[in-house]
Amino acid sequence: MTRQRSSPHSPVAAADTVRPDPLPFHRPWIDEEEIAEVADTLRSGWLTMGPKTLRFEEAFAAYVGARHAVAVSSATAGLHLAVDALDLAPGDEVITSPYTFTATAAVVLHAGARPVFADVLADTLTIDPAEVARRITPRTRAILPVHMAGLPCAMDELLAIADRHRLAVIDDAAHALPARWGDRMIGTLGDLTVFSFYAGKNITTGEGGMITTAREDFAARLRTRRLHGISRDAWKRYSTQGSWYYEVESPGFKYNMTDINAALGLHQLRKADRFHALRARYAALYRTGLADLDEIQLPAEPEGVQHAWHLFVIRLRPGRLRIDRDAFVEALRARNIGTSVHFIPLHLQPYYRRAFGYTPDDFPRATAAYRGALSLPLYPRMSEDDVHDVIDAVRRIVQENRR
Ligand SMILES: Cc1ncc(COP(=O)(O)O)c(C=O)c1O
Repeated sequence: MTRQRSSPHSPVAAADTVRPDPLPFHRPWIDEEEIAEVADTLRSGWLTMGPKTLRFEEAFAAYVGARHAVAVSSATAGLHLAVDALDLAPGDEVITSPYTFTATAAVVLHAGARPVFADVLADTLTIDPAEVARRITPRTRAILPVHMAGLPCAMDELLAIADRHRLAVIDDAAHALPARWGDRMIGTLGDLTVFSFYAGKNITTGEGGMITTAREDFAARLRTRRLHGISRDAWKRYSTQGSWYYEVESPGFKYNMTDINAALGLHQLRKADRFHALRARYAALYRTGLADLDEIQLPAEPEGVQHAWHLFVIRLRPGRLRIDRDAFVEALRARNIGTSVHFIPLHLQPYYRRAFGYTPDDFPRATAAYRGALSLPLYPRMSEDDVHDVIDAVRRIVQENRR
């Protein structure tokens, strides 16, 4: 079926067309090599954490240039282990962004500490270092910046603040593979960095995550705590008791990756640069195709960073359209374009309102951004035609709803 296209994206659009098939918000890219590797794992008889997980960890550490990489069952598990590694006491505080997924702050609560939100910068949606500095108290133990949508936070300033106040830095890099701050990969800056391989992320293992760190003591602790707090080396010390022997050093978690997941990860990682090049190309197409629309704020791309382009978050500028964000999302859906919203800020969520008494005005930039934000589809499995369909649909909806 041939479709009439309205590209190039001139303000005077050509004939209005709706793509016949729905464009999902995301689809993972899985080749036969991933399928064969998973089948090989199933046939090998070793299903849980084993040789493929170790290979994936080594390859991942080499890819980001980190000293250690510890594979886990999800980024949520990884964030929990990272916060756990800091030995926080009740009443300790961890400063993070409200413009994130619930896991970022939930793990701080699971560790018995208090998440303290600091508002984001209006243009980048990443945590504002000045707001972080303002919220430091004698109980502050760590900063947990979120590289929102794959855009690195202002790491020079955040690392300087952490240094000055002797705070740990845990990067939530769920979106940030591969991303760079200057010439350094995200994964090598903070004390601990956590990546996600959830089905919708830049590379996927179905579910999964990775923690990177330069610190030997953290790496050893993460490896023990991800597997019940059981020492891997106990059987060596008590070799006469055989390989069945183990010692529980602390009440750990069950957060290990499995070789079934790692089988996927080994091949996905090899494609990470190729995937990223496509994401960057599609992001550039969106930028060009939507540049002249005053009604829409495009994502920031500051100098000196490599954006991982996990998400392409556009924002409807207030007062420019006759419809709000929710109606815009619906209008795109009616045109067969899947979208999502990242994120509903945590201070607007019932739990955080109830537990901490937050109001929308407490973090006004996050609140304002959320009201206009929607994420356009952005993934390597899309074609350039798909990207142009999205651009055409956005342009058409803007034209029909201008004030
Ligand atoms: C910013 C952020 N942090 C953490 C997570 C948790 O990742 P996972 O699903 O791998 O636990 C997500 C997931 O969407 C996320 O977007």
